[in-house]
Amino acid sequence: MDFYLDSADYQKITEYVEAYHIKGVTSNPTIIVKDKADILKLVEVVPKDKELFMQVISDEVEGIMAETKKLMSLGKNIIVKIPASPNGLKAIKKLKEEGIKTLATGIYSVEQALMAANCGAAYVAPYVNRICDLEMDGVKAALEIQKTFKEQQIDCKVLAASFKNLMQVKELLINGIDAVTISADLMEKLIYNKNTEYAVKDFVSAWKEYTGKDTLGL
Ligand code: G3P
Repeated sequence: MDFYLDSADYQKITEYVEAYHIKGVTSNPTIIVKDKADILKLVEVVPKDKELFMQVISDEVEGIMAETKKLMSLGKNIIVKIPASPNGLKAIKKLKEEGIKTLATGIYSVEQALMAANCGAAYVAPYVNRICDLEMDGVKAALEIQKTFKEQQIDCKVLAASFKNLMQVKELLINGIDAVTISADLMEKLIYNKNTEYAVKDFVSAWKEYTGKDTLGL
């Protein structure tokens, strides 16, 4: 499975992406606004060997296609996210016909994911927690999409997004999701466990008491 960082925070990107074998960075207009980021600077900060997903704003077919091509011209590692709206799906289909790989974002159901894949999306992004906010099971929906794609050998990856907690992430990971993109806050919780830190402190203090050293001393 692949991990992505859902962030436009330059510092967090630099801190996590290389160090923890994160496959890339995902963003959307809200994230860019929240992190007070800039598209060109974001392109610069994300290492060239990591994928960078950026989203269009236009909802007209021609506008989506033009924005997609503009974004793609900024770097070879850029994959464009297009909302799975009626026009978004049309644009995804046209772009696929031109050999352009896209991600269909804002997916709320299996049938919508299937339609996006059928139009030629290379990735779909189910919005797990936003589905939960609608009193439905977002984890189940994402897993249904993954299972259907696998069973029907549909050539489209599931990059699950919109998480509120690590329980949601865990359920997807242990059930074979292709990829998850998680916020810097959740990434930090995933990487750092205070109990591991306590255990390490115990090892070091026992060692120091015995040897007087805080390294193996070999
Ligand atoms: O990448 C888009 C997705 O992360 C949206 O997340 O937290 O706004 O529901 P959220």
